[in-house]
Amino acid sequence: MKAEVQEIRHPLVQHKLTHARSADTTTDNFRRLVRELAAMLAYEATRDLPTELSRIRTPVAECDAPILAGKKLCIVSILRAGNGILDGMIDLLPGARIGHIGLYRDPETLEPVEYYFKVPDDVAERLVIVVDPMLATGNSAVAAISRLKECGVSSLKFVSILAAPEGIATLAEFHPDVPIFTAAIDEKLNEHGYIVPGLGDAGDRIFGTQ
Ligand code: URA
Repeated sequence: MKAEVQEIRHPLVQHKLTHARSADTTTDNFRRLVRELAAMLAYEATRDLPTELSRIRTPVAECDAPILAGKKLCIVSILRAGNGILDGMIDLLPGARIGHIGLYRDPETLEPVEYYFKVPDDVAERLVIVVDPMLATGNSAVAAISRLKECGVSSLKFVSILAAPEGIATLAEFHPDVPIFTAAIDEKLNEHGYIVPGLGDAGDRIFGTQ
């Protein structure tokens, strides 16, 4: 099974991404751009949600009009940078439940280790959108999605602002059933694990910690 990867080439997405990439962009502008990008990525990632007709009355007439149907949504943020794109997603999906997964990399084994996990009790019945602005090595995304599958989640999507080919390959190898939505697939990872050309450390830029 080959994973579905969607690079969102919409001109508005690319324009905002270019400004976000620039080292000259201030923290407040970076946050705003990431929020706007997240909303546009959420728009694309929810394009195939099922709808059903609902009988309503407009000020002019009665009609059958579409509303969302099917599974309810849950957005799961991979801490900490994932939180930076939650707001933009919630702007578009205000009723979605939110989960958080905290992972750090063990300095010896280099494997992701979970330090926090909180998701809604009914997460298994929901469509879960896992968010992390940077799909770099893919190890955190793989661990987060594996953990959610252990909880019984069967409908998953992954959204990032940037992706490295290495991260896409890893995620696709372990979870080929999970479609990936990203604003750009960059060239490579460098020796420090940063995406090139990338945008730097997303968490530091969102939270202004550097
Ligand atoms: N995480 C980041 O914040 N930036 C990268 O380039 C890679 C991983």
